[in-house]
Amino acid sequence: MGVVLAAAGSAVGLGNVWRFPTEVGYNGGAAFILIYLFNVILIGMPVMISEFVVGRHTHANTITAYAKLALRSWWRFEGVAGVFVAFLILSYYVVISGWTLFYLVDSLSGFLPVEQDFQSEFNSFVSHPWLPVAYACGFMAMTHWVVSCGVQSGIERFSKVLMPLLLIIIAVLVGCSFSLPGAHDGLRFLLKPDFTKVTTRVVLSAMGQAFFSLSIAMGCLCTYASYFKDETRLARTAFNVSIIDTMVAILSGFIIFPAVFSVPGVEVDAGPGLVFITLPNVFHMTFSSYPVMGYIFSVLFYMLLLLAALTSAISLHESVTAYVLEATGMSRRTAAAIVSVSCMLLGVACSLSFGPWSDFKVFGMSIFDLFDFTASKVIMPLSGIVICLFVGWKLDRNMVRDEITNHGTLRFRLFSTYIFLIRYVVPAVIALVFVNELLG
Ligand code: TRP
Repeated sequence: MGVVLAAAGSAVGLGNVWRFPTEVGYNGGAAFILIYLFNVILIGMPVMISEFVVGRHTHANTITAYAKLALRSWWRFEGVAGVFVAFLILSYYVVISGWTLFYLVDSLSGFLPVEQDFQSEFNSFVSHPWLPVAYACGFMAMTHWVVSCGVQSGIERFSKVLMPLLLIIIAVLVGCSFSLPGAHDGLRFLLKPDFTKVTTRVVLSAMGQAFFSLSIAMGCLCTYASYFKDETRLARTAFNVSIIDTMVAILSGFIIFPAVFSVPGVEVDAGPGLVFITLPNVFHMTFSSYPVMGYIFSVLFYMLLLLAALTSAISLHESVTAYVLEATGMSRRTAAAIVSVSCMLLGVACSLSFGPWSDFKVFGMSIFDLFDFTASKVIMPLSGIVICLFVGWKLDRNMVRDEITNHGTLRFRLFSTYIFLIRYVVPAVIALVFVNELLG
């Protein structure tokens, strides 16, 4: 149970509550969600199981894990890519997490529920020259603290209480959202697919989102799996984590879209600010006659969002720190400090790209968008292909079977299907979508 919840803690984060609705908004709603589900089942779960196999078999950090299994061959660069991208993601993850921290403080001070113009409130915050940077640093400090103390008992115990609580809060918020005047349009947007809007870009986005949300292909789960026990059931864990993660993502959509359609002037494709503008609106409108409830709810929600972000940030941080630590032999504290400080330097650039540096574009993207694009739409798909080919072709099949069945003590009837998927189907599907997008 603890294992599932810790892995679920890594998976459930801003990717579900913030990034998923943003992507759904950009990519046209229900059709995107269907393609997303397809991606989770067909690609996400097989890749996750493969990562578990590598991590638990070697009991080592990602880079060492691949190096151990691949010896001197090129495959070992998969581990390097994983750790590098975990670092890249962490650098922009702390920026959004910092916003969450700000909104928590704001709602604690009682300001949020009475505020009216959430749009300009949000804009003036993110474009402020140093305030968001300060909050991002604050968030990084929290992450740093947990990682440098060592995580296992802390995170596990944390996740066991937090994850169920998060689900309860989400359920109540869905109820609130359904009572809003725009609920009907919101539901139609989420449930009625319009396949005319589907392009390869939409499919690639759905794939990138599945990778991001499930925390796969980047070494996080491989690092966590290295701490798994011998009796942990890999396939079942992957299944449970995927279910929990997908459920939270879809429920977040059910909170946000009815609200979006209730607020005049907010567009569904409002981008990264969607959650920070529309959610306060939900609190404001649903609880306008009971301000105390509005207060309690906004505080609870941002607190839980912050904690969800924290467990994910910890897993990203941990997978880089575990490498630095094992490779250099320095103390955990020093290793974590090096990671935090260097990552924060990139984080500052990301944060400024919403304000003073917003005119600075690379390939037409701001620094923030560039990082997200590189990580989730370029390196993650490529690295997903490599992981599958590695486990499917390079590793000994009996060893893979042993890992998944815990040395023959479990039955895994889908083993040949799984092998077939990771040998042919998953790499082919990813490659097709990816190449199509590059050429198109
Ligand atoms: N999955 C997390 C989220 O949804 C973010 C995350 C944690 C992540 N570890 C990762 C994303 C590793 C990619 C790779 O917020």
